[in-house]
Amino acid sequence: MTRLAPLDPPHRLLMGPGPISAHPRVLRAMSAPLVGQYDPFMTDAMGEVQALYREVWATHNEQTLLVDGTSRAGIEAAIASLVRPGERVLVPVFGRFGHLLAEIAERALAEVHRIEVPWGQVVPVSRIEEEIARVRPALLAVVHGDTSTTMAQPLDELGAICEKHGVLLYADATATLGGNVFEADGWGLDAATAGLQKCLGGPSGSSPITLSERAADVVRSRARVEAGIRETGDAESADFVRSNYFDLGMIMAYWGPRRLNHHTEATSMLYAARECAAVLLEEGRDTVIARHEVAGRAMRAGVEALGLTVFGDRAHKMTNVIAVEIPDGAPADVVREALLDDFAIEIGTSFGPLHGRVWRIGTMGYNARRDAVLTTLAALEQVLRRHIDVPVGGGVEAAADVFRGAGA
Ligand SMILES: Cc1ncc(COP(=O)(O)O)c(C=O)c1O
Repeated sequence: MTRLAPLDPPHRLLMGPGPISAHPRVLRAMSAPLVGQYDPFMTDAMGEVQALYREVWATHNEQTLLVDGTSRAGIEAAIASLVRPGERVLVPVFGRFGHLLAEIAERALAEVHRIEVPWGQVVPVSRIEEEIARVRPALLAVVHGDTSTTMAQPLDELGAICEKHGVLLYADATATLGGNVFEADGWGLDAATAGLQKCLGGPSGSSPITLSERAADVVRSRARVEAGIRETGDAESADFVRSNYFDLGMIMAYWGPRRLNHHTEATSMLYAARECAAVLLEEGRDTVIARHEVAGRAMRAGVEALGLTVFGDRAHKMTNVIAVEIPDGAPADVVREALLDDFAIEIGTSFGPLHGRVWRIGTMGYNARRDAVLTTLAALEQVLRRHIDVPVGGGVEAAADVFRGAGA
């Protein structure tokens, strides 16, 4: 067998829509020694993670924990555990990830209803309420920030609407949590899930989740513990969750006092999730959100000063990623490749109707920083100049002005 050199990945500045460069403290935490699944250190760390994420989500929900797997593991766990086969799920679709929620709900054998709007817009809240009244779903499943279009769907009024109609409200906050205002309790959410690789500044592979008591009750009503670890007195619902791995009932019992031996917690990812939240809360939740807002605004000012157009409804933009229309004369992939090859900077392309039409540039987590924004703009200017006319230094200067104005 060929001997391989020790792993030595290139040092990239990840300025796409996620994953982004992880915070060095998070990477260090991931190399900490492993402990056993029920070591007191481990169970204490699980408790710390729960307390930290209650603050990150702005919730008092007891059921605040991690699902092992990338963000879509959290999405799948929430939907599979909250929706019974045949129940109706309503999904506002304003980008790729709305389609993902609908797809996952269909696979959970739900009757799925979509409200679709063109990419670059969000769904008016009045339209969501009309559809709730018409469809009468068990669950409204909505993406908060859809990185495919960079739009942020307002969620603040949906909790009250869902409560009025007796509907559970789930939000996918993968791309927004930590970098955009998010109030799980204040907005009346029943369930929300995220990932580490965006504003939380970690690698992908762990999905923070929070469930209201109302949602936890639905999960408990579908309880089934697998044979081999089942105990006398364990309820067995005929309506049990069809996925074993993503059965939130068993996952909750693992994170709770029973410590049900469901799966082996991904220890290094738990360390990562813990450190992501610790770093964020040390800086302060509001301060981190403000830092994302300033970095995002600076990047937008910078690309506009380079003569580029920002895509989508400006009133509903995520703070942490922008989509930039690819100018005539600039070959989309050649520009991205040159940024990577010459400057070790990654930016993203997009999907579906936006593929080849926009580049997506993220300013999130550890990379929502002045130097990361200015370096990216300087490199972009250099690469664009090989193909089209761009103002000299304009992008960097405009972005630096935003940072100066914000005292950053
Ligand atoms: C809004 C949103 N939801 C879900 C996902 C899927 O996340 P993952 O790839 O971590 O499973 C992403 C990834 O970009 C996302 O942006």
